[in-house]
Amino acid sequence: MSPTALLRCALLLLLGGSAGKAAAGGSPAGQQQELPTVVIAILARNSEHSLAHYLGALERLDYPKERISVWCATDHNSDNTTEILWEWLTAMEKHYHYIEWKSVEEPRSYPEELGPKHWTDERYEHVMRLKQEALSFARAKGADYLLLTDTDSILTNNQTLTFLIAQNKSVIAPMLDSQTYYSNFWCGITPQGYYRRTADYFPTKNRQRVGCFAVPMVYATFLLDLRKEGTSELAFHPPHPNYTWPFDDIIVFAFSCQAAGVQIYVCNQERFGYINVPVKPHQTLEDERINFVHLILEAMVDGPPMYPSEHVSLRPKHLGKMGFDEIFLINLVRRPDRRQRMLSSLHELELEPLVVDAVDGSALNSSDIKNLGVDLLPGYYDPFSGRTLTKGEVGCFLSHYYIWKEIVARGLEKSVVFEDDVRFEVYFKVRLTRLMEELEWAQLDWDLIYLGRKQVNSEDEEPVEDVRKLVVAEYSYWTLAYIISQRGAQKLIRAEPLSKMLPVDEFLPIMYDKHPNEDYKKHFANRDLLVYSVHPLLVYPTHYTGDSEWLSDTETSTIWDDDSKKTDWSGSQKTMKGSRSNAGHSFRSTSRDEL
Ligand SMILES: *[C@@H]1O[C@H](CO)[C@@H](O)[C@H](O)[C@H]1NC(C)=O
Ligand SMILES: *[C@@H]1O[C@H](CO)[C@@H](O)[C@H](O)[C@H]1NC(C)=O
Ligand SMILES: *[C@@H]1O[C@H](CO)[C@@H](O)[C@H](O)[C@H]1NC(C)=O
Ligand SMILES: *[C@@H]1O[C@H](CO)[C@@H](O)[C@H](O)[C@H]1NC(C)=O
Ligand SMILES: *[C@@H]1O[C@H](CO)[C@@H](O)[C@H](O)[C@H]1NC(C)=O
Repeated sequence: MSPTALLRCALLLLLGGSAGKAAAGGSPAGQQQELPTVVIAILARNSEHSLAHYLGALERLDYPKERISVWCATDHNSDNTTEILWEWLTAMEKHYHYIEWKSVEEPRSYPEELGPKHWTDERYEHVMRLKQEALSFARAKGADYLLLTDTDSILTNNQTLTFLIAQNKSVIAPMLDSQTYYSNFWCGITPQGYYRRTADYFPTKNRQRVGCFAVPMVYATFLLDLRKEGTSELAFHPPHPNYTWPFDDIIVFAFSCQAAGVQIYVCNQERFGYINVPVKPHQTLEDERINFVHLILEAMVDGPPMYPSEHVSLRPKHLGKMGFDEIFLINLVRRPDRRQRMLSSLHELELEPLVVDAVDGSALNSSDIKNLGVDLLPGYYDPFSGRTLTKGEVGCFLSHYYIWKEIVARGLEKSVVFEDDVRFEVYFKVRLTRLMEELEWAQLDWDLIYLGRKQVNSEDEEPVEDVRKLVVAEYSYWTLAYIISQRGAQKLIRAEPLSKMLPVDEFLPIMYDKHPNEDYKKHFANRDLLVYSVHPLLVYPTHYTGDSEWLSDTETSTIWDDDSKKTDWSGSQKTMKGSRSNAGHSFRSTSRDEL
């Protein structure tokens, strides 16, 4: 049986209805009633991973719900997509003008498909027919607009619909941000209907060029003005009689626009929302879920964040420590924003950290510092600014030092230490789990492994036999995130570093004997710490020096032994985005293949 035939026998439920709705109080009469009417079309399949956030964003759109009807279709699901949609529609029924619901329970997959996210021709055809049905529904209802929005588009900006309507275009899309260079528009199309690289794509995607631009293709989320001349000829199915381009719903629609002489636009003036990078045909729903969690984390860093709907039940999270004895998160109490973001991120990753209040260097006066037994390493000067240690750096050192002490005191064999300005790479957990398995299997001796750092020199580092994606660490900066063994913590404590302090990220390279300064090294007799680094890195800093968001608590504070002298500099090379350390950051791999 074809899916179309199945659809015909689909259970068709009409929830709510327009009758009597207008009379039901709550909606301010007059002006709002004059706003154009909109049909929102939801086509969902195997979307459990994103639905809560997707629906949350839809319900928060700042547009009167009594002017919106929802058309929702779902089928071929192997997850709980149907249940979640039903739960949401039931809760929202009284708010929207009208809801149409079409769900088909069986079959749960297509016979030829490689995985639950594979698009076969049968799937394309089915989606074209569904979109056409949504379009016909909107026309039959006399709606002014049709908003098509995929379940992987999260419209975090609640003004998106209002904004798009105000642009007064026939077909218009909000540009969506993603974890990568991926978005929801093309700037060029070949005569055969394929993607064409253009000079405009990246400047548009990166918002170096801002506005509403004529483009040959938009997808995922866009608005059709059904009142405009020309849009009456648009169709998703059947394809135009002259159609010879690839059999794909988005390309069929782009052709339809071209044939009807309707110009398509994409706008990037605002951050409207996000689009999840699709997985490859053979990948699984778990891959897609991992991508989506990464998108949630990215949205927390770059903003605005995504929030789930309160009207759907979320799958409970199973928090754990990934086999580590402890996961430490260092945070300054006076930076609750960072604490909250890291806690939310780790929660999304289902990791349960122990928050450690960082030593606030700025709250220590010089006599406190001396009472703690801290003394400067003779002759230490910051290589870039020429100044000595700051109180922030003392606080940072002490924070890590007290964690090492705790590791020793509690006899923890393997721990992770995070600072609070960490941006996670996709597949963070999968990759870290694999690393720990390979370390075990290779019986490698290690004391400390950087998960994020700045490699100071650009030479290739020596790979480690039998452990993929691991190198022997050369001189490195930062203490963003690392794993540390019991023996590693013991070695660091035994070096008695408080009485000859320098920044903690200079201390570590001394301890593994890769620091270039021979004078510093003389003060530390045993420099046998076994240090490696993951490569590519698993975390990056959220911001770099010079970024507008950049704010360092360690590098902009007063000098360690002088309470009056402020260090006033913000251009440390250390926190600058290094070409090497940042390589691969903006082009992250999004699939397991590339791991
Ligand atoms: C829309 O979003 C802005 C920014 O997040 C928020 O301040 C405002 O309250 C929201 N408006 C509505 C109607 O939800
Ligand atoms: C749907 O959700 C329920 C409750 O959360 C869960 O028990 C069930 O396994 C889920 N089914 C699928 C197919 O994911
Ligand atoms: C909207 O665009 C149409 C042309 O499609 C134009 O005639 C009309 O004046 C525009 N309306 C506004 C409010 O700009
Ligand atoms: C479709 O093909 C016919 C015959 O070749 C041609 O006359 C017509 O202009 C074409 N229409 C479009 C929209 O390309
Ligand atoms: C330094 O701060 C401590 C409290 O943290 C205070 O008792 C002490 O008097 C202060 N010393 C100076 C020199 O300000």
